[in-house]
Amino acid sequence: MTGLKMIGIGRALPSRCVTNDDLSKIVDTNDAWISERTGIRRRYYCADGESTNTLIAAAAREALECARLQPEQIDCVIVATVSSNYASPSVACLLQAELGIRENIPVMDINAACAGFLFGIATAAGLLQICGGRHALVVGGEQLSRLMDMTDRSTCVLFGDGAGAAVFERDESADLCVDLGSRGGMDIQIEGVGRPDPSYIKMNGNAVFRFAVGVIPDCLNAVMDKAGLTMDDIDWVVCHQANARIIDHCAKKMGAPEKFYKNIDRYGNTSAASIPLALYDMYKEGLLKDGQKVLAVGFGAGLTWAGALLNIHMGASE
Ligand code: COA
Repeated sequence: MTGLKMIGIGRALPSRCVTNDDLSKIVDTNDAWISERTGIRRRYYCADGESTNTLIAAAAREALECARLQPEQIDCVIVATVSSNYASPSVACLLQAELGIRENIPVMDINAACAGFLFGIATAAGLLQICGGRHALVVGGEQLSRLMDMTDRSTCVLFGDGAGAAVFERDESADLCVDLGSRGGMDIQIEGVGRPDPSYIKMNGNAVFRFAVGVIPDCLNAVMDKAGLTMDDIDWVVCHQANARIIDHCAKKMGAPEKFYKNIDRYGNTSAASIPLALYDMYKEGLLKDGQKVLAVGFGAGLTWAGALLNIHMGASE
């Protein structure tokens, strides 16, 4: 399978910033517990007029600008989300209309929870190969605040809203190296989505923690094996930002802690948005350079997991 290179990145955050102290006023928690157990210091919630769909559109616009591409140059759109405004039409189709992306191309949403952005990249690569075309827009965006039980302190402190978008270009010089998996189960659930009654995220945190620290190193090693690379060849590792302790544990296990990027303190767990939000911050901090190889890994509800090797080369080719 022909590879992809990442040529543009964008993001959008809602306007309402919620600190740990803010949460301690509505649920029995405190800043010390949240920051020590999770690494999270603040997160963002959508305010009136903001939603998964508005965040995704803003992030996608910025990613296109960064890639120096016009919407009509996009050949495939994938949106990864578990919190779209409507069951149908897809967020991706609404985005297509809003941005003026052309017809007769594949445009759809996928639900693979926190592994969704990487499932989206793999899906886009396959669709470009099958349908033809050069450029894919892959977006991860969530309004998890509307799925949270604000009386359940074990989940409501963890999640936040946001969107990250990336533009990819087919790269004939590289193969696509991914490792994707899933295991239907009960460890994280979103109950009642689509029903008129409130819908809440429910999670067995300890089981998910154990699952994550096992699957992340396995997934990273599987992608490196497929690519014929070792950690020495990798510039950065971007894990889904669910818990700083999960990332630190895996960083130590992989023997290269300095390569593991973390920004969970700023946004909490934003599910499908978390990996592109990390890539965005790395780019803005000057950490991402052309020619670099980034190993990304996500895991989440389903359970699902995904690893992918991302080649960085910002700006579309002539
Ligand atoms: N504030 C204060 N205390 C809290 C709390 C909060 N927000 N949430 C839970 N506690 C309490 C518990 O009630 C428990 O109290 P007890 O000992 O009196 O019963 C104590 O803290 C320890 O709870 P525990 O669940 O064992 O904590 P933990 O160290 O495992 O951390 C998570 C909990 C959820 C942070 C952790 O398990 C985790 O991050 N798991 C992975 C979750 C994840 O990544 N999910 C998304 C996947 S995409």
